[in-house]
Amino acid sequence: MSSDTITTRRATGGLHGTITVPGDKSISHRVAILGALAEGSMQVNNYLCSEDCLNTLRAMQQLGAEVTPGDCPQNFTLTGTAMAPAAPAKDIDCGNSGTGMRLMAGIMAALPFSSRMFGDPSLCSRPMKRIIDPLSQMGADIEACGEKPGCAPLQIKGRTLTPIHYELPMASAQVKSAVLLAGMLTAGTTSVHQPAITRDHTEKLFNHFGIPCTVSEDGLDIAINGPVHYRAQDITIPGDISSAAFWLVAASIVPNSEITLRQVGLNPTRDAIITVLRRMGADITISHVHNSGEPYGDITVRTADQLTGTVILKHEIPNLIDEIPVLAVAAAFANGSTSIRNAAELRVKESDRITTTVNNLRAMGANVEDFEDGLVITGGQPLHGAVMDSYHDHRIAMAFLMAGLHADGETTLLNCTNINTSYPGFEEHLRELIS
Ligand code: S3P
Repeated sequence: MSSDTITTRRATGGLHGTITVPGDKSISHRVAILGALAEGSMQVNNYLCSEDCLNTLRAMQQLGAEVTPGDCPQNFTLTGTAMAPAAPAKDIDCGNSGTGMRLMAGIMAALPFSSRMFGDPSLCSRPMKRIIDPLSQMGADIEACGEKPGCAPLQIKGRTLTPIHYELPMASAQVKSAVLLAGMLTAGTTSVHQPAITRDHTEKLFNHFGIPCTVSEDGLDIAINGPVHYRAQDITIPGDISSAAFWLVAASIVPNSEITLRQVGLNPTRDAIITVLRRMGADITISHVHNSGEPYGDITVRTADQLTGTVILKHEIPNLIDEIPVLAVAAAFANGSTSIRNAAELRVKESDRITTTVNNLRAMGANVEDFEDGLVITGGQPLHGAVMDSYHDHRIAMAFLMAGLHADGETTLLNCTNINTSYPGFEEHLRELIS
């Protein structure tokens, strides 16, 4: 369990050691949902036991899926409902997780019972219209009951849906997946076109379970033919590259560092953080790559000679959307300017990450300009520690604790318990790598 207030200071000896970051958050949500609808039992290894993913797993248990504990909390047997889930006896708590709520809305809309999903204040202020629109076009009955228009809680009256072709207005894997999951339970062909490549874990898992799904050569068009029936399949979830990203940046900026992160997911729709850090001059080596299903491997990072600013390309944004706060920290230590534009989606994450990243960079003395769709950082000058809010956003907390490892004085982040939503054990890893 993460502390509420965490302080870092200059890591004078560098970062050293080998760690295994927890399982991938995006894949864990999807494994819980797809496993819960499968026929039979599957062994799940390295599930992310963070609050977000445990909420999704508990929701699936409410639908009748069974979890039999294994040798550690991350490993368990998941027994599915063979496409015949039960109505949940009580409202479903999605906690802080937009992914959990949006993906589950896709299946709840198409199942023959009513459900209600709620979340914490951050989740209840995030847009749900983006999934309500396409699901309503399929015939779904979803009411956004939140104080803010178009926001959670969601009241869903499940019913038989009709297939659609949907042109995604934004590059969102969550919206794409909500539609495809609804399509999986709907007779006929449901298809989506996305304006840019987004993470393809749903498609990869369809493949893992033998669920027929077609993806166009350019990866932008995906179609599924429902309804499907499939058998459970054992799975081992790789480490989360979004969690690894904090250490990739920390070891790059802190002198005398060398760390290895084991068995990190290297899905090409998620690895732009490595491409961009290398372009900035980071010393990153990848080894022991395995390529079945979701690719993964070991990543070794040594202190960079000198990072240099870069321009993040439009198509790279969806691929590193969750890593932007920590990438902005790297940019503050890089010579020259780093431009991160076409990233308005940052405004509707767990916090408005353009505002929260800019506020905290400025608090540490960085030179940053903000725009409606992003930020431009002019780096190179030393940063100083500060007392900063995490704005109840796990990635803001961890990103600025990394900045503190190479800043003057003490860097204190307030309201850090949200780190548990994605990275249980973060503080232990921090202590281990700087000791
Ligand atoms: C996710 C997709 C991304 C990402 C989120 C997880 C997913 O959101 O920011 O943390 O698992 O599909 P969008 O697809 O809405 O951009």
